[in-house]
Amino acid sequence: MKAKIGRSVLELVEGDITEQRVDAIVNAANEGLRGGGGVDGAIHRAGGPEIMAECRRIGRCPTGSAVITTGGQLPARHVIHAVGPVWRDGAHGEPNLLAGAYRSSLQLAEEHNLRTIAFPSISTGVYGYPIDRAARVALRTVADYLKGDTRVELVRFVLFGRSAYDVYVQALQELADRDEAIQLVS
Ligand code: APR
Repeated sequence: MKAKIGRSVLELVEGDITEQRVDAIVNAANEGLRGGGGVDGAIHRAGGPEIMAECRRIGRCPTGSAVITTGGQLPARHVIHAVGPVWRDGAHGEPNLLAGAYRSSLQLAEEHNLRTIAFPSISTGVYGYPIDRAARVALRTVADYLKGDTRVELVRFVLFGRSAYDVYVQALQELADRDEAIQLVS
């Protein structure tokens, strides 16, 4: 599914983020940038040790923000490591922190002149954020960003498995129904 927002495209696909040929893929990282399972494990395995070496030099990244490294051997030139919140009950600032992880990633991409960026569904694996709620926050944050003055041309959400994809499709449809700046194109 695709939507046009301003001059940019927001796209949803089902797939593996490590295979994306874009300027940057986003990692669902932890504050210590130590690596882990899920997307994080897959990115470090596919990209090789250069990525971890840079993460060690950077050190830490607070929840709700992001840092950038090389893409190592990945098809993507860069990895943006974003740290989403651990879900507690939704009353501990989780939506704002999740929005912050997406917004910081987009700002970093902008600062580095990157035009195409792929996101996973941050926080919805090990960190336990309910995916329907996370999808609404993620899509609204990205859509609002793309309405502004940006050189980012493409934001692709790469959803792991059919059920995650379906949740994002539903959320994007609902968002587009209420916001005429979001034009579904396919
Ligand atoms: N491509 C795209 N999405 C993937 C991939 C992949 N190769 N592998 C897993 N996913 C999906 C998961 O299905 C989930 O919906 O990414 C989403 C995020 O899950 P996690 O990777 O567990 O990330 P998160 O919930 O943010 O937890 C972060 O987990 O791996 C550790 O170091 C990481 O401590 C950090 C924590």
